[in-house]
Amino acid sequence: MGKRLNGLAVRIGRLKFINPVMAASGTFGYGQEYKELVRIDGLGAIVTKSITLKPLKGNAPPRIWESTAGMLNAIGLQNDGIEDFLANRLPFLKDLNTRIIASIAGKCRQEYKELAKRLESAPVDAIEINISCPNVEHHGSARLFAQDAKETAGIVRAVRKATKKTVITKLSPNVTDITEIAKAAEGAGTDAISLINTLIGMDVDITTQRPRLANITGGLSGPAIKPVALRMTWEVYQAVKIPIIGIGGIMSTEDALAFFLCGARAIQVGTANFVNPQTITSIIDGISNYLKKNRLKSIQELTGRLKI
Ligand SMILES: Cc1cc2nc3c(=O)[nH]c(=O)nc-3n(C[C@H](O)[C@H](O)[C@H](O)COP(=O)(O)O)c2cc1C
Repeated sequence: MGKRLNGLAVRIGRLKFINPVMAASGTFGYGQEYKELVRIDGLGAIVTKSITLKPLKGNAPPRIWESTAGMLNAIGLQNDGIEDFLANRLPFLKDLNTRIIASIAGKCRQEYKELAKRLESAPVDAIEINISCPNVEHHGSARLFAQDAKETAGIVRAVRKATKKTVITKLSPNVTDITEIAKAAEGAGTDAISLINTLIGMDVDITTQRPRLANITGGLSGPAIKPVALRMTWEVYQAVKIPIIGIGGIMSTEDALAFFLCGARAIQVGTANFVNPQTITSIIDGISNYLKKNRLKSIQELTGRLKI
């Protein structure tokens, strides 16, 4: 599985990863888009853009806005659907020497279950459940699945039953108490938790007096959200026993290491892929150098080692 560096391997669920650095969903396409820019074979994993049952057009433009120390996006889960993924995206991904994590998103439990079933015989290593989608069916409002412990547990249980693959549940930071949702996902059988997805935000153009995004609100990502993501990683680390994959504003090796200290077993790099596609590989090398310098045998020694 790609280039091995001493001490970087980690285990999540039944899977071993050559290193703990992954490309985050929606920021790395389906790998192919980045193949000329990055040493893809050296990555810990690629998490695909979230896949839905049917193709989705996404939201109207403008749907990206650069904000102070971050970006707002309202892509709206644009993707070509599971059939296209299996037929046209997976053939490229399956030949890579990196783990492939398929991110799935649905409008109801049944859709998540169906997606997991469709992926069961496909050459993907794990499923990441994106529950940051509005629960249209039960609330008829913009309330996200990930804002409700019962809904979270219901989706995780449905996916768990439908697959033998490693299951990762991705949490939203748009909640009052993230530990409650993390515990619900753990109780329902997820192998790991990834966090955080984007924070809901908005920005305004005072000249036109309109919102910057056609969708009005969007998801905030990038350096601006790192302190929130670290706080939530630390809180969840103390609340659950399963591995945590830290995400949010990781732009450098130093950022990544802070997540390990707060309890992450692995990390994902998102917005940084748009700024400099080499970030992700430089973080892998950076962590390796840090281990050598600090005479650590394994990155796993760092997880949760925050001194307080
Ligand atoms: C343009 C864009 C598209 C995204 N699409 C998805 C997606 O399809 N599914 C998902 O789970 N997260 C999606 N995310 C969220 C990222 O995977 C990540 O959780 C978030 O951006 C925080 O990490 P970052 O600050 O490193 O970007 C998207 C983020 C961005 C910026």
